[in-house]
Amino acid sequence: MMPRDRLRIAVQKSGRLGDPSRELLSRCGLKFRSSRDKLFCFGENMAVDLLLVRDDDIPGLIADGVCDLGVVGRNVLDEAALATPGEMPYRELRALGFGGCRLSIALPQDEAWTGPQQLAGKRIATTYPNQLADWLRRNEVDAQIVTLSGSVEIAPRLGTADLICDLVSSGATLAANQLRETAVIMQSEAVLAGAAEMPRDERGDLIELLLRRLDGVLNVRESRLLMLKAPRAALAAIVDLLPGRPLPTVTTIEGRPDDIALQCVCSGNVSWQDLEAMKRAGAQGMLVLPVEMMLA
Ligand code: PRP
Ligand code: ZN
Repeated sequence: MMPRDRLRIAVQKSGRLGDPSRELLSRCGLKFRSSRDKLFCFGENMAVDLLLVRDDDIPGLIADGVCDLGVVGRNVLDEAALATPGEMPYRELRALGFGGCRLSIALPQDEAWTGPQQLAGKRIATTYPNQLADWLRRNEVDAQIVTLSGSVEIAPRLGTADLICDLVSSGATLAANQLRETAVIMQSEAVLAGAAEMPRDERGDLIELLLRRLDGVLNVRESRLLMLKAPRAALAAIVDLLPGRPLPTVTTIEGRPDDIALQCVCSGNVSWQDLEAMKRAGAQGMLVLPVEMMLA
């Protein structure tokens, strides 16, 4: 293969992960001469190009060295890894926090679920035969795997299988096909995958730069709401200790003129050490809450 000095990232061309993948990369400062209908997007401001492909092809493109990185569902990556036992040509570099779904067993709605053992002797339709086989083995269940390339959810109605093993996100597909989710085989989300060995040239440096930026972007999603009370005299010292130096809102407490209540959004996690330092400075009743939504 021709040596390359530009980094190449595979992303899903269409489908669930396509848009959020490209949006995440642009939040990392990458600009592409983008044409959605093309296979290749040239990186305009960095030596990083995109290849727009079918998600199922991404593990192979990384393993073969055609692409250095890929944004792909963990379900696709794990399925490919199980299909090539022994070698592990790629690894998960970062979980990206979008495209959440799970690989689950689903039965016709009117059938009761008593546990994996009831699947013995049944025909299970799936596009994930390796993960299903692995799960059946771990549960010591002997069932027949019917490998399909798509439209798994209609197999029970067509009579080609008794039940299915498929991805579930909102659950709408299962509901529309009178199926219900029972056992969860794996939890998936979009991940950044790369070759097991980093390229030892400029591309390796680009990957490191990209990972640092990615961490910067992903950390915003870790924002926390911090609330505490303190003597007014301790306020300046506590403000100095707020992780990430956010702008705090300070309010009075009715009936306690010498104390204040403070509230702020900390970008990045608040550690036990942060809380302990603030406590030593006089803070009390500290609460750390996850931030679910923010509208500026
Ligand atoms: C999955 C799965 C179901 C659907 C479930 O396919 O095969 O058809 O999503 O989603 P829901 O619970 O929100 O209804 P996907 O769209 O990921 O396409 P692919 O498996 O062909 O890549
Ligand atoms: Zn797919």
